[in-house]
Amino acid sequence: MTLTAPATLISHALDQLAELGYTIIDDFIPAADVVALRSQAKALQDEGLMHQAAIGHDMHQQVVRRIRGDATYWLDDDGNTAEQAQYLASMHALQQELNRDFFLALVEFECHFAIYRPGAVYLRHLDQFIGQQERQISAVLYLNEHWQPDDGGELRLYLDNGAVPDHVDILPLGGRLVLFMSGRFYHEVLAARRERFSLTGWFRTRSQAL
Ligand code: OGA
Ligand code: MN
Repeated sequence: MTLTAPATLISHALDQLAELGYTIIDDFIPAADVVALRSQAKALQDEGLMHQAAIGHDMHQQVVRRIRGDATYWLDDDGNTAEQAQYLASMHALQQELNRDFFLALVEFECHFAIYRPGAVYLRHLDQFIGQQERQISAVLYLNEHWQPDDGGELRLYLDNGAVPDHVDILPLGGRLVLFMSGRFYHEVLAARRERFSLTGWFRTRSQAL
C-alpha cells in the first residue's frame, strides 16, 4: 500500500520537516475519505464509544476538562473500516520514509479520533512525557468540513527559534495533515465555535523501559 498524496508533495513536506521541525500537507487523503472518517467519528460518538480524554499518564491520569477537553477513541491496529485501514497503511508508508530520511527507528504508529465540542481546548503541552521519549513525531489529520477562519480551533505551535511572533496558528482544515517533532514543540488547541474533528497520532520508537 502506498501514499495517496503525490510523491513530490510528500518529499517537499519531509524537506520542510527536516528544516523547520514541522510541516503541513494539505489534501493528504482523498476528500471522500475525510467525509467517511468524520462520519465514523460521529457514529462512535453517538454510540457512546468516545471517552473524555485524561491528562497525565500511568497512575496519575485524570480528566480535567479546562486543561484538555476532547473525547477520543483509539483505532485498532488494522483499523475498523476501509478508510481507517487505508489511513493506517498510508501512515506506515510514511513511517518508512521518515525512518529513511531522518535516521529514526520508528516501529509503530498509534492514533485516535478526537472530537472537541465548541469551546473545548487543550492547553499548552508537549507530546512527550518526562522519561518517556517513545513518541517522536506527532501527526494530526483534520476531518472538518468547510472550516472557516472565524471558526477558530487552530493548532497553535510554539516555535523554538526566537521567531516573532513566537508561534504559528494552523487551521484544522479537512484533509490537512500536520507533522511535528513531538519532543520539540509546545502546542495547544484553541477553542472553536464548531465541533472539531481529527485523527491524532504519533510515530513511536521502541519503548526504552525494560
Ligand atoms: C494532542 C494535540 C492537536 C490538534 O492531541 O496531543 O495536541 O490540533 N492535538 O488536535
Ligand atoms: Mn499534543
